[in-house]
Amino acid sequence: MFVKIERDYDAMSARGAQIVAEVVRQKPNAVLGLATGSTPEGLYRCLIDIARQENLDFSQVTTFNLDEYEGLPAGHPQSYHAFMWEHLFEGLGLREEQTNLLSGIAADLPGECVAFEQKIRAAGGIDIQVLGIGGDGHIAFCEPGSSLAGRTSVVALHPQTIADNARFFDTEDEVPRRALSMGVGTILEARSCLILAKGEGKAQPWAGMIEGPVSSQVPASALQLHPWTIAISDTAAAAQLKNGEYYQHVDRERNDQPVIPPWIVDPDLDPRRQFASRIESVDG
Ligand code: PGA
Repeated sequence: MFVKIERDYDAMSARGAQIVAEVVRQKPNAVLGLATGSTPEGLYRCLIDIARQENLDFSQVTTFNLDEYEGLPAGHPQSYHAFMWEHLFEGLGLREEQTNLLSGIAADLPGECVAFEQKIRAAGGIDIQVLGIGGDGHIAFCEPGSSLAGRTSVVALHPQTIADNARFFDTEDEVPRRALSMGVGTILEARSCLILAKGEGKAQPWAGMIEGPVSSQVPASALQLHPWTIAISDTAAAAQLKNGEYYQHVDRERNDQPVIPPWIVDPDLDPRRQFASRIESVDG
C-alpha cells in the first residue's frame, strides 16, 4: 500500500484528483469505480476543474459506483444516483449511458447484483476504484464481518453506519437499513485502488486498515492484499499510524515513481494475471 499524508483535506483531494486524471490521460476509455460520501466530494470538485483546465476528455469513460441504498429511487435526493450527478457527472458532462449504478428499487435485487458484476466484466474491469472508509472500517457497504472474497450483494448496514449517515437525512429512522454493495472481492479485482480519509473520526479505522491485521472486522484491511492501493489522508486521519513518518519518507523518496500502475494501459503486466498464468502453465 502506498500511504500518503497530506496537510489538509484540500491537498488530499487535489492529489487524489491528479491520480484519477492521470488514469484518464493515459487511458481515455478508462473504467472508473466511484464512491459517495463526504470524503470524495473535494476530489470530484478538483477533477472537474482539471477536466476544464486541461480540456481532458471524459466522453469515452465508463463509471461504476460502489453501492446504493435499498428502496431509494434514482430521483431521491439522498440516493447515490443523485449524489453522483450533483457532485461529478454533471460537471464532467457525462452521458447517462456512461454511468452504472446499482438500482435500489430493482424488482429482483440479487439479480441486479449479479447483472452489475457482469457489466463490470463486460466493460473490461475497473481501472481505478475510488473509496472512502467508514468509521467502522467498511469499504463500500462491506461492514465488519463481511467476506473478504465477497461479491456484489444485498447487505445490512451496521448501526454505526446508520448513525454516521443520519446527517444526510432528516431523521435517523429515514436511513435505509439495507443496501446493494460491491463485495470486497469485487473491489480487490480493480487494477488500482485509491482510498481517502479525512478527520480524526477516521484515525482508528485508518490505522487498522494500514497497520492492523487483515481481518473481516476491518474490511478495508483487505486492501493490504491489493498490488496497487494508494491511501491518502489528511494529518488528522493519520494520527494513529505508528509508521507515519516513515510513510512520508517513502513518499518523498518515491516522488519520481508513476502514480498509476503500468497494467492499467497493459493488463498483461498485472502481477495477479502473471501469477495466474504461471499456475496454469505449471498445471498444463
Ligand atoms: P464519508 O463516508 O466519506 O461520508 O465519511 C465514507 C464511507 O462511509 O465509506
